[in-house]
Amino acid sequence: MSDEAKDRVEAVLDSGMLADGPEVREFEEEFAEYCGVEHGVATANGTTALHAALEALGIGEGDTVLTTPFSFVATANAIRFTGAEPVFADIDPETYNIDPKAAATTAREHDVDAIMPVHLYGLPADMDPIRELADDLDVPVIEDAAQAHGATYDGDQVGALGDVACFSFYPTKNMTTGEGGMIVTDRDNIAESAAQFVNHGRTESYDHATLGHNFRMTSMAAAIGRVQLDRLPEFTKARRSNASKLTDGLTETSVITPTEPERTEHVYHQYTIRADDRDSLQDHLDDHGIGNGVYYPKCIHDQPAYEDIEVTAPEAESAATEVLSLPVHPFISNDDVDRIIEVIQDYDTKQD
Ligand SMILES: Cc1ncc(COP(=O)(O)O)c(C=O)c1O
Repeated sequence: MSDEAKDRVEAVLDSGMLADGPEVREFEEEFAEYCGVEHGVATANGTTALHAALEALGIGEGDTVLTTPFSFVATANAIRFTGAEPVFADIDPETYNIDPKAAATTAREHDVDAIMPVHLYGLPADMDPIRELADDLDVPVIEDAAQAHGATYDGDQVGALGDVACFSFYPTKNMTTGEGGMIVTDRDNIAESAAQFVNHGRTESYDHATLGHNFRMTSMAAAIGRVQLDRLPEFTKARRSNASKLTDGLTETSVITPTEPERTEHVYHQYTIRADDRDSLQDHLDDHGIGNGVYYPKCIHDQPAYEDIEVTAPEAESAATEVLSLPVHPFISNDDVDRIIEVIQDYDTKQD
């Protein structure tokens, strides 16, 4: 947190407007403008953003939503909270995002009512075929952009690639508000319904037209978000530069480095490699004090909460056993990056 963020939070505390106030409205406007869309609706977190966006589209009981099984569980939970059911299509093993061909087959088999691609690790999903499929089926696209603030596809920002998009501002994300989320859309009716849903279905003071939740963001969170948004380009540049150095250094090693398809700009929420023997590499990194994490060790359909869903997703299941994410955040130094590369080179030498 910069001194500026601390000062802005203090100013909010002094103002007494702690809950939904002008600071939140400013953040909504600024974030929507950053994404290149008309409306922003701030929420308490990314999960509630997804839930409210789906509700605003009228998704509910009896509906099905196509998504990826290789994501954080919140993607599917948000679908289930509306009363709808997730339907999973396999991923592309190179990008880890939903495979458009598998998506087309599965969407038709299940006659889905909406499509929710996830821009996993900060890399935009292949949106052209997904939008074509959605147009063919006449269903909306909800981007789960929780991990991809500022990423682009054909020069357009994520957030502007579907009917509606949702972001998370959890502290590990590319920008944070502590806890927080945002719905962005060009469509007036979605913005209006979502804003109503996150605020008790309220239209005017003590008029409640529909059932709604309290999914609102606080003014302290919005104050932090506005400062973080100003810094996002600087954070993205540092993440991309760290990723590029890691890829240069790891190309000759045994691990598979992340890809960045030509039409996309990856923002490296995670720098995720793939290793044949992931667990032994992880032990080696742990032994040498290199931070690492597995996102995700299980597909969503392998979670006990989703065991009732039958899925064929061999690529997602194989990725779950091989992926490993390395530090890439804006505050690691060049020396840190060199050390990560050396430790992986050393691992390879020990395997020979
Ligand atoms: C892909 C994805 N979707 C949704 C979420 C939910 O966001 P939040 O944790 O802010 O509720 C996350 C957060 O980790 C995520 O990574």
